[in-house]
Amino acid sequence: MQRQPFFYDITLRDGNQSLKKPWNTLEKEIIFKHLTEFGVQGIEVGFAAASDMDYEACSYLSGIAPNNTVISALARCTQNDIIKAAQSIQAAKKRRIHTFIAMSPFNMQYVLNKSPLEVKNQAIEAVKFAKSTIGADGEVQFSVEHFGDCHENIDFVIESLKEVVRAGATIINLPNTVERTRPKLFINLVEKVYNALPKDIIISVHNHNDLGMATAVTVESYFAGAIQLECALNGLGERAGNTNMYEVAVALHNSGVIVPLNLSKIYELALTVSDMSGVAIYEKAPLIGPDALAHRSGIHQDGAVKTKDMEKGAYRPIHPSLIGRKDDEKLGFTSQSGKTAIFEIITEAGYPISIQEAQRLAPIAKETAEKIGELSTRNILDIYYNNILNVKGAFRLSNIEKISEDNIKLNFFFNDKEYNIEISGNGPVDACIKAIQKAGFNCEFLNYEQKALNMGSDAAAMTIMYFKAPNGQTIISRACDESTVKANIKAIFNGLNIIYNIG
Ligand code: KIV
Ligand code: ZN
Repeated sequence: MQRQPFFYDITLRDGNQSLKKPWNTLEKEIIFKHLTEFGVQGIEVGFAAASDMDYEACSYLSGIAPNNTVISALARCTQNDIIKAAQSIQAAKKRRIHTFIAMSPFNMQYVLNKSPLEVKNQAIEAVKFAKSTIGADGEVQFSVEHFGDCHENIDFVIESLKEVVRAGATIINLPNTVERTRPKLFINLVEKVYNALPKDIIISVHNHNDLGMATAVTVESYFAGAIQLECALNGLGERAGNTNMYEVAVALHNSGVIVPLNLSKIYELALTVSDMSGVAIYEKAPLIGPDALAHRSGIHQDGAVKTKDMEKGAYRPIHPSLIGRKDDEKLGFTSQSGKTAIFEIITEAGYPISIQEAQRLAPIAKETAEKIGELSTRNILDIYYNNILNVKGAFRLSNIEKISEDNIKLNFFFNDKEYNIEISGNGPVDACIKAIQKAGFNCEFLNYEQKALNMGSDAAAMTIMYFKAPNGQTIISRACDESTVKANIKAIFNGLNIIYNIG
């Protein structure tokens, strides 16, 4: 049977203690409710001895906690801290005291100024005291602070942990309090502890992200025997933060592990936490960052568009809906992008365009992007207006006048030369084409269609026209106007300029 990961949230304790303005009870309550809806199995509600405000928050949250959620409070290995922690969470059904002391040689010597024996005894005494204080239906978690720095004295740590377990701790937490080296070295230590302790003891990891590998360390620790994964929403926590809960949850989910969380809440949760903590989600943040679903190179855009409705995408780790992200994969147009992005951005904005036209616009857009960087949808629509709906070039329509049922008078310029041609035809389009041909210009018209549109207050009709260019290529031109006749004539002149511009 697969071991189910136990998600233990530390946002309200490790995350909170690192905020520039730690949360009060009301603020903690908002996050707490989100956490219970998200489905985490354990919540460390605070460090009761840290301040009256934190004590009050621990008490309040314990009182509103669901019966099946483990509620814990942090305590150093001192009687005062342990008593405060126990009292603060007494209203919770599933209570846990989380006590800790550093066991790395460096910290014992330079921070605690204690011998290993003194530290070990303090840990054992604290766990015994915590167990007696929390009562038979509560539990005790013990953490080896700076466990990641215990390579030289791992035998001492394991010996101490065996005694700590005999003293009553049932959850052993192994923090990488400061991430200093490669993941495998930490995971080797986790495996050693896992192999040495009784199998009914829950092994937990708590990894800080100083080198940016906390997610990897946590995910691999799970496969090395750790069941409890201590993570924080948005990766909040001291310095570079704690392990990001979302990344671990999704990485395990993608690895086939059943993750007991409501993953579809992730995106909303991330935005709320960012808002409430004042810690912005950085542009490139995995899964939740504004850029996490953006594609800018032409090759990536092509793959993304071809697979956008599939669960697995060519260039994304998940379908955005897995984490409740509604903004779809975003295509940003830069000098690296291509026709697919143009096509998608314009279509998405509600304007008609063909792939052939998008191909024609791509070099124009690239040139602009080379100068100003990524183009906004507005920038791209301007390019669309100027190069599809109002193509500038040598031909310029000046006036068209209906003289009689079949006769028109067309006035236009080719560069600076003015043409005034009166001609009859089978309707205005036919007459206009004939006038242009009569003026000596090659204009091989194929056919046209019309679409009713709602692209703006003054544009009710769109004409789409097809021409054959002298090089044999079929050219599509468009134009909009509230009058269908004017839309037709404008489309002819747009077509002429496109043909003339491509040479
Ligand atoms: O990082 C750490 O070691 C801690 C302990 C208190 C668990 O936060
Ligand atoms: Zn920590």
